[in-house]
Amino acid sequence: MLKIHFEQDHPLKNILLNLGFQEGSDVFFSSSQPSVQYFYNIFLGSSSQDKFDLSYDYSKENLAKILCFLEQRVFEENTLRQPSIFECFSIVQGTVVMMNGFIRSVRVSKNIAFFQLSDGSHEIQVVVDEIDFAKLLSIGDSISFIAKIVDNKETKELFFMESKAHYSAEESYPIQKKATSFEFLRTIQHLRGRTKTFGAITSLRSSLSLATHKFFQERDFTYIHTPILTSLDSEGAGELFQVNQLKKKEDFFGKQTFLTVTGQLHAEALAFSHKKVYTFGPTFRAENSFTTRHLAEFWMIEPEVYFITLQDLLHLSWSYCQFLVKTVLQKNHLELKTLEEVLEKDLQTPLQKFLLSSLRTKTYTEVIQILEEHKTSFEDSNIFWGMDLKTEHERFLVEQIEKGPLAITFYPKELKAFYMKSEGKTVECFDLLVPGVGELIGGSMRENNQKLLRARIEELSMKQDDYEWYVKLRAYGEVPHGGFGLGFERLLMWITQMQNIRDVSLFPRASSLCEF
Ligand code: 4AD
Ligand code: MG
Repeated sequence: MLKIHFEQDHPLKNILLNLGFQEGSDVFFSSSQPSVQYFYNIFLGSSSQDKFDLSYDYSKENLAKILCFLEQRVFEENTLRQPSIFECFSIVQGTVVMMNGFIRSVRVSKNIAFFQLSDGSHEIQVVVDEIDFAKLLSIGDSISFIAKIVDNKETKELFFMESKAHYSAEESYPIQKKATSFEFLRTIQHLRGRTKTFGAITSLRSSLSLATHKFFQERDFTYIHTPILTSLDSEGAGELFQVNQLKKKEDFFGKQTFLTVTGQLHAEALAFSHKKVYTFGPTFRAENSFTTRHLAEFWMIEPEVYFITLQDLLHLSWSYCQFLVKTVLQKNHLELKTLEEVLEKDLQTPLQKFLLSSLRTKTYTEVIQILEEHKTSFEDSNIFWGMDLKTEHERFLVEQIEKGPLAITFYPKELKAFYMKSEGKTVECFDLLVPGVGELIGGSMRENNQKLLRARIEELSMKQDDYEWYVKLRAYGEVPHGGFGLGFERLLMWITQMQNIRDVSLFPRASSLCEF
């Protein structure tokens, strides 16, 4: 028999002791004790069998291999033995697991009880045959218990074995089984993550964030962090939250500062060194518009590329959107299904249709002609070249005319930010509009000509000194470059078909809304 020596607090030691191995500083493997195969089953389910020859060959070499493998698994022990509900769906029937979560609903009958356990992201049915215990459970309770995984038709359920901890929720728990309105849930932002809808949205946010990094990293972009505090009005639109250090009479920074409206200008500086960069961070706008698609704090993804054309930028934005949609269709089927049930909408068909479509582009001038032809369809029927497109116009174009996303290019210079590269009366830019939302992405080529940029800043009466560093970037190479910004919450609105941007942000901050 082979002896294996463990260090004092070696994690494997406890596990093996728990499995019934002899106590002491040595652990013995023998055929009369639970075999290695046994704890392979516990840790790994049945899939491990083909990895090693486990025919009781406890040669030093074989054991070393097995232990090395197990050591890696110890690291994952908690996730494997305390799986998330999602992980439960792929664990073999009969495996005993420790589950933690909260209760969404309880149903107690004479001999048997059921409850729906949720861990925020997913939900699973638990069967309880200890009726007295089941009677103690109610909606909102948090519970930790040992259970056995059981196959049930296409899905899995849990057979309750033993409670480890049970924390009752007070009767005032506001999320009851009956449907609760989104308006009401907005007043309990700290709890709404426990509902099916917000559970699914939270998971989708996480998945889309990872997909964003994956997309850009796979294309060799460098992820940069741009500052949240800035002394610049980077969009030149004046929609800034000012930052004050109220206790001090003088400005903390010795000048006026704001919460950033975009990371673009700082990203441009780094694109000049790193060629392809992207930021993904919070941005802030003090727009006083109480609309269903504006937040005061939202997240934006902004790639910026040195040596690029408008055409390539359009293609980059399109393949990014396609990548995001492909990811959620592949990885978030359960979340999409949950939302489809709650919202009673088909989310997947339009996304699949989008994947098969190709980028459609129209110039602003062409779009104005189309809107002019349909002007009676709008509340504001005054259509003219030079007007800013309103949500009703944008949505009409993508929902009625294109029946899918549309990129509008070359807007009038007056409608767009000072940094966009001008082409006579228009600027080299695009807005990508999508159904249900309107503008999802705004991007442009940047004015790379030092003189023209300085002239534009002067023309708009902006503070020349503040922007001198930005203009001067061009002094060391007037390289054509550009980028775009995608509003993360608008992306979520598009994918989930949620109607109000406040319901895709986890803790929305908007005009008259900053709960805590
Ligand atoms: O069109 P915007 O203002 O563009 C910029 O900020 C550029 N600096 C981006 C760039 O070229 N790097 O904003 C970009 C996107 C919009 O298309 C929209 O999706 C989103 O950000 N957005 C908002 N989302 C929620 N609430 C608001 N108040 C938003 N304002 C813009
Ligand atoms: Mg815009």
